[in-house]
Amino acid sequence: MKIIHVNNEQEGGQVAFDFVEKTLKAHQHPVFGLATGSTPLSLYHCMRTSDLDFSNSIGINLDEYIGLGKDNPQSYAYFMQEQLYQDKPFMKTFIPDGLAKDAQAECDRYDDILKQYPIDLQILGIGTNGHIGFNEPGSSFELTTHRVALTESTIEANQRFFEDKSEVPRFAYSMGIGSILQAKEIILMAYGKHKAQAIYDMINGPVDIQCPASALQNHPKVTVIVDEAAASLI
Ligand code: GLP
Repeated sequence: MKIIHVNNEQEGGQVAFDFVEKTLKAHQHPVFGLATGSTPLSLYHCMRTSDLDFSNSIGINLDEYIGLGKDNPQSYAYFMQEQLYQDKPFMKTFIPDGLAKDAQAECDRYDDILKQYPIDLQILGIGTNGHIGFNEPGSSFELTTHRVALTESTIEANQRFFEDKSEVPRFAYSMGIGSILQAKEIILMAYGKHKAQAIYDMINGPVDIQCPASALQNHPKVTVIVDEAAASLI
């Protein structure tokens, strides 16, 4: 893993943006694996305000809450629309359907999309417990898209986006670690002291399902973009 130290989120967003620009220019129809959460916001700001044209790009999101439709402001579909797509139209975008009636069929549909559009650059954040996408500790590294029961710590960490903890969905769809490792290149960003332990475990810990992000040690092209606080234990 290559590690790039940055002074703050803004600088991290700019560094990540350079990867996005390189991928965009290298492919006729670049496929971006996209993340949600607060971490990629500075990157999405750079993308939105750039003069780059993403209209030949394909965007495939990592995950979505089960039970939330795309018109729900807490859904990841809504987040992507607000933070990126409305200013930077992509040729095609995909995100699991939180309202799908048949969970297995939805996971199969998503796996087919990933087969059709292999990801050139996967953008990741990391959960405080080392999760990537919504792959919680204990999930097999072989998994492709699947239905996840969120852990208490993830529900607590994400409750800041909801009015009340009871409103945080308990389940989600997520690309699996197996799907994420198929990406040709991966960048993972982390900012803040609350991410320091997860970053330490991801980089220095054993490759173990208790830290899902440690699976990235097995990928040949990963760059980690960290501020001083997130890097404080490495
Ligand atoms: C969520 C998302 C992840 C994200 C993580 C960290 O659980 N499913 O994709 O990386 O939270 O979020 P944040 O960037 O807000 O710290």
